[in-house]
Amino acid sequence: MAQLWGGRFTKETDQLVYNFNASISFDKKFYRQDIEGSRAHVTMLAKQGILTEEEKEQILGGLYSILRDVENGTLEITDAYEDIHSFVEANLIDRIGDAGKKLHTGRSRNDQVALDMKLYTRDEVKELDGLLKELLSTLLHIMEENLDTYMPGFTHLQKAQPITLAHHAGAYFEMFKRDRQRLADIYKRMNFCPLGSGALAGTTYPLDREYTAELLGFDGPTLNSMDSVADRDYLIELLSALSTIMMHLSRFSEEIIIWNSNEYQFVELDDTYSTGSSIMPQKKNPDIAELVRGKTGRVYGALMSLLTTMKGLPLAYNKDMQEDKELTFDAIDTVKGCISLFHGMIATMKVNKKQMESSAKNGFTNATDAADYLVNKGVPFRDAHGIVGQLVLHCIGKDISLDDMTLEEYKSISPVFEEDIYEAISMKTCVEKRTTIGAPGEDAMKRVIVRNQAYLENE
Ligand code: ARG
Repeated sequence: MAQLWGGRFTKETDQLVYNFNASISFDKKFYRQDIEGSRAHVTMLAKQGILTEEEKEQILGGLYSILRDVENGTLEITDAYEDIHSFVEANLIDRIGDAGKKLHTGRSRNDQVALDMKLYTRDEVKELDGLLKELLSTLLHIMEENLDTYMPGFTHLQKAQPITLAHHAGAYFEMFKRDRQRLADIYKRMNFCPLGSGALAGTTYPLDREYTAELLGFDGPTLNSMDSVADRDYLIELLSALSTIMMHLSRFSEEIIIWNSNEYQFVELDDTYSTGSSIMPQKKNPDIAELVRGKTGRVYGALMSLLTTMKGLPLAYNKDMQEDKELTFDAIDTVKGCISLFHGMIATMKVNKKQMESSAKNGFTNATDAADYLVNKGVPFRDAHGIVGQLVLHCIGKDISLDDMTLEEYKSISPVFEEDIYEAISMKTCVEKRTTIGAPGEDAMKRVIVRNQAYLENE
């Protein structure tokens, strides 16, 4: 049992208590950030004359050697230490002796862990943003390729009006764009350095917190030492943003599962992203999409868990907060994995344009346009609605689409119909007429694509 305290104790910690309390099994994940924070702290202490230059150099050398040896595998982070902070400090003292004992001057593990977690999260937010950006460029590519891939748009999962796959993919482009904006907002709000807040009430040493913050790339120090060690808002915000990303991925996964089904056949997932059945030889299952959908629950769970952990905590630090780590790490790793796999899955899936278009036709998605046709010829909309309702009934009886009706059939229901009805209700016309910004018409879509291209170049 290697721990940083013990002076005031007369008995050894019970082994079960020690194990229950220890966090090394998971906080070893941020050994790099812990060392980075210590380097900045020591550099600041020397600048302030709290450590000598020589002590600083010794400590920095020792920290560097620990980092190097952990990375090259010669120094293992074992459960013999209570947490990553103890591991680093104990190894430092082993390596450089007395100077190492000065590392923790003017610092508590409370501000240290708050810093480590922020540094770790900050790096992960950047990585998540990069993954989302890659997903967005693939979505933009799908949009460019499918401006005339007609398909049914749905409400209530009932065919509603014709759209294009570009338009459908564009909806997700907007969602993931907002997800990136959310991450950027969180980053801005969290980017203040808690180090120097001590256990809760600051320290009596003349620390230069502005300087430490600057060394670590923060926008400044946090402004209340109690809040600094007690704040986990940024993790809650992050878990909320991650939950939203998962909700988006899950909705899209659900659609892909439907599209890839035997009944729909709108898309075919690549063999490399599908799995088989041990018993049914014909099966090719969309397991990746299902797992992404399934893992959403796990990320929501992390958000609920941390909100609940935090709700009754008095200021300032409480050990309950150690519970923030495993679930945040798990949520981040889960989301990163899901974005990457989902990305690969949609980048390799085959789009069945013909099937999509015929599904749109056969679902009367052009019925609204047929009514608009009548309105343009002077029929009041409510009457037009009724006439087209009769057309649909007629088609259902014969198991045909509106496009398949003869002009005689049209005229038998309303004499207003002319030869130009076919042009008016073609998928192309129905989509092309929708030209307002945000609508599926090709020109409108092209304008959106140009804007989104510029967005990806600049942000
Ligand atoms: N392992 C602790 C955590 O994750 C580090 C802070 C410990 N501080 C303390 N006073 N016991 O929150």
